[in-house]
Amino acid sequence: MQGFSREPGTEGPMSEVPRASLRRIWRWAVLVAVGGFLFGYDTGVISGALLYITPDFRLTAAQQGSVVSVLLLGAMAGALLAGRVADRIGRRATFGLEGAVFIVGTAIAVFAADFPMLLVARLVLGLAVGSASSTVPVYLSELSPTEIRGRVLTLNQLLITIGILVAYFVNLAFSSGGLWRGMFAVGAVPALLMVLAAAFLLPESPEWQGTHGQLDKARALVVSLTNEATADKLIDERRRRRQQWEADRPAQRGWRLLRSARVRPALVVGLTLAAAQQFGGINTIIYYAPTIMKETGLTAGNSILYSVAIGLINLVMTLVAIKLIDRVGRRVLLLFSLTGMTVTMALLGLAFVAGLNSILTLVFMVGYIALFAGGMGPVFWVLIGEIFPPSARAVGSSASTTVNWGSNFVVSLLFLPVANALGQGQTFWIFAAICAVALWFVGRYVPETRDRDAGQIDEALQRRFGRRTRRAAGEQPA
Ligand code: GLC
Repeated sequence: MQGFSREPGTEGPMSEVPRASLRRIWRWAVLVAVGGFLFGYDTGVISGALLYITPDFRLTAAQQGSVVSVLLLGAMAGALLAGRVADRIGRRATFGLEGAVFIVGTAIAVFAADFPMLLVARLVLGLAVGSASSTVPVYLSELSPTEIRGRVLTLNQLLITIGILVAYFVNLAFSSGGLWRGMFAVGAVPALLMVLAAAFLLPESPEWQGTHGQLDKARALVVSLTNEATADKLIDERRRRRQQWEADRPAQRGWRLLRSARVRPALVVGLTLAAAQQFGGINTIIYYAPTIMKETGLTAGNSILYSVAIGLINLVMTLVAIKLIDRVGRRVLLLFSLTGMTVTMALLGLAFVAGLNSILTLVFMVGYIALFAGGMGPVFWVLIGEIFPPSARAVGSSASTTVNWGSNFVVSLLFLPVANALGQGQTFWIFAAICAVALWFVGRYVPETRDRDAGQIDEALQRRFGRRTRRAAGEQPA
């Protein structure tokens, strides 16, 4: 329902959506964000499960690596497919389908008899993770009124971090018996919830209905959330905006839309942030924290406890981001976060190169996670739900998400070999340099999206990229 609730140009909190309706929307949002939970859970659960799968299936180091990274490849494919599917069959059905794929992947993992079957399971889970990671921001964005859109979209990253953390706890709980099948099995519960929610609890995105000849259904939903007069006003406004957009863009559909000059600024922002989020090095810490800490000689305590501590900081700082995102805006969070990430990564590198003490190393690492979680982590997932115009939203999110998973795959694959070749500290300096470039990019090209509807965001993007739109130039669309 992006933009449904506010007249363009008006500022401040909006009163057109009553409180009771906002509560309904939050309930839907929590259900949709279960897709984010499984993203976190299925990426997090493997670190613990692998400890027990390895002796069971006699896995070599290379086989262990492939069990971890095949999920990332599956996720790339899933993300790539998701945009077109979500445009064809709708956001709700896609979401339900993703739940079903999660169930299938989980079942194959739970009953895996050997290494190849486990690989298939991880690939299928990856398809679901990737597809959900592309669909969830779009669906959330289209269900939320402008004034709560930032918080609603941040919910996705919050549930990702909760999913990672719950996976660590489940690992801990099942580890005494070495029950790795049980670790996977837990994921079936939220997956089933996704299917049930899509079937019985969630509405279709009114934005999708609007672009698929179901304006009456979209209107009925908006009426149930507001009232007749407001619904008509909002839908009228939406129609005007849409005509404006149609007049400005060539008649294209699907992936081809992304090639149009009009969508290019959003695409450049989406793809660059997608790559920067991963090439800044976050998952080397999320995936390898215990290994990194071992390098420093800090061996006190269980290595899984470091993961839990990092997971907790990640979660708490994401909550801080939720509090701030609709107040201070996306840009401030991003600029602050990237500045801090650059500094802490550079210091982390220094700690290794200069052989500083291991507590300091831990402090820089935790600082980096905290600064990531307060900005770059959630804001990327928020922006890909916001920057693309409605008709290109699903494919735009799909493209950005695919690049995010591809970059994740490359960094995970290269981190250990590069660290061995160049040194761990030097590798962290590369990450720091990438964060610095991302900081410059955000300062120059990423517009604020808070309190703006799709049309205003489009104009802001065009301005940042030095283009003038008809509306900005004061002309009427043809
Ligand atoms: C973001 C990243 C993901 C990472 C997570 C950590 O969602 O996209 O790759 O694992 O944050 O919280």
